[in-house]
Amino acid sequence: MSPPNGVGFRPLLSISIAILYFLLAGQAYDEISDGTLNALPRPNNDFDIHHGALLSPILIPRVSGTPGSAAVLQHFADFFRNSLPSWNIEFQNSTSTTPVSKGKEVPFVNLIASRNPPWAAPGDVGRLTLVAHYDSKYSPEGFIGAIDSAAPCAMLMHAMRSIDAALTKKWEKMQAKGDTDSSWEEQKGIQVIFLDGEEAFKAWTSTDSLYGSRSLAEHWDSQVNPAMSTYKTPLSSISLFVLLDLLGSKDPSIQSYFSTTHWAYKKLAHLEKRFRDLKQFKSSTDSSHPTWFLDSSKMEHDISTFLGIQDDHLPFLERGVEILHVIDAHPSTGFPVVWHDEKGVPDDGEHLDLATVEDWSMLITAFAAEWMELEGFMPQSRREAKDAEHKREKRSGKNVDRLNMKTELS
Ligand SMILES: *[C@@H]1O[C@H](CO)[C@@H](O)[C@H](O)[C@H]1NC(C)=O
Ligand SMILES: [Zn+2]
Repeated sequence: MSPPNGVGFRPLLSISIAILYFLLAGQAYDEISDGTLNALPRPNNDFDIHHGALLSPILIPRVSGTPGSAAVLQHFADFFRNSLPSWNIEFQNSTSTTPVSKGKEVPFVNLIASRNPPWAAPGDVGRLTLVAHYDSKYSPEGFIGAIDSAAPCAMLMHAMRSIDAALTKKWEKMQAKGDTDSSWEEQKGIQVIFLDGEEAFKAWTSTDSLYGSRSLAEHWDSQVNPAMSTYKTPLSSISLFVLLDLLGSKDPSIQSYFSTTHWAYKKLAHLEKRFRDLKQFKSSTDSSHPTWFLDSSKMEHDISTFLGIQDDHLPFLERGVEILHVIDAHPSTGFPVVWHDEKGVPDDGEHLDLATVEDWSMLITAFAAEWMELEGFMPQSRREAKDAEHKREKRSGKNVDRLNMKTELS
C-alpha cells in the first residue's frame, strides 16, 4: 500500500507545529501574579478535622470494599456534583482477591473528575493529572491515614474548587473570541484521580498493593481514543502525573526523583518561596529547614532517577507517563513519624499540622492555576474571592448555615 498524496508533507508540518508548540508553551508559563497569590481562596474551616466540609468526612477508616470506603467515595462525588457541576465524574472499577479476603473478590473503585475545554474532543485534550489515594490501611484496626492520604485528597478538592470559576471564564472568553480550534496549546484540560487500593492488606508485594492504580493504568493504556485524535489513549493524554502522598506533617522533605519533570518540581519550589515572601504561608520554616523542596537548587542532570519509593505512580511510570512525585520522604530519616502508626504516633486528624495542610492546598492551587494559565481570570482581591465563594455556595444551595455565620462574622 502506498500512502495517499500529501501525506509526505506531514512530518515536516508536525515538526514546525512541534516547534511552534514549544515556543508557545515556553511563553505560556508566565508566572501568576503576586495579586493572584495574595487573593487565592483559602480553605477556611473546610479543613477542620471534626466539622470541616472537605476534610472531616475523609478522616474515617476507609479500607477498600468497606462501607467507610463507599461513604468517602460518595463524599467526593457529592462534592463535584454539588459544588463543581461542570466537572465530569467517572468511576473505574475492578476486583481482586487479597491475601486476607479468603478467596473473595474485593471491589476497587477509582474516581476520576475532569474538566475539558467545552469545544474540545476528549481525545484531543492533554490533561494535568493530580492524584492521591483515598483508601486506608486494613491494619492496625481503626487506622485513619490522615497524611496517608486523607489530607492530600482534601487539598485537591480545595484546589479544584479554587480554580473552577477561572477555568469557566477563560474558556468562555476563548470561545467568544473564536480562539479555540487552531492551537494545540489550548486543548488543555485537567483531571483529579482519587485512587483506591494503594495500601497492602498484609505485606507490600507487587500483587498486594496498588490495586486501583494498576487497574487504571492498564485500562487507560488499552483504551483507544477515536481515530485522528491527538492522543492515542487516555494514558498518553496525561501531560503530567502529579502524585501527592504523605502530606500534612510539619516541615515536609520533598525530593525530586525524575530529571524529566525537575522543571515542574522547581515550579513548586519557586511558588513556595513566593508564598513565603508574600507572607501567605501559615507554616514557618527555620534555617535548618528553609524549604520543603530539598532539591530545588539542583540542576536537572543532578537528579538521580531511582525507583526506590513504591507508590501509585509506578504502573504509570512503567508505561512512559511523566511523573512528579510529591511525597514527604527525608533522605536520612524517611517518612514522617506518624507513617502507618509504626512508631506509636497515630496518623490521625489530631496529628496533622493544619497550617502545613492549608499551605499545601494553596501551593497546589497556584501550581494548577499556573499550569492552566489562569492569570487574569483568578480573583484579584480577597473581597472578589469571597464574592465568588458566596456565589458558588448559593448556586449549590448548600452550606447555607455556614454562609450566614460568615456574614455575621464579617
Ligand atoms: C463502579 O462502582 C461505583 C461505586 O460502587 C458505582 O456507583 C458505579 O456504577 C460502578 N461503575 C460501573 C461502570 O460499574
Ligand atoms: Zn500508606
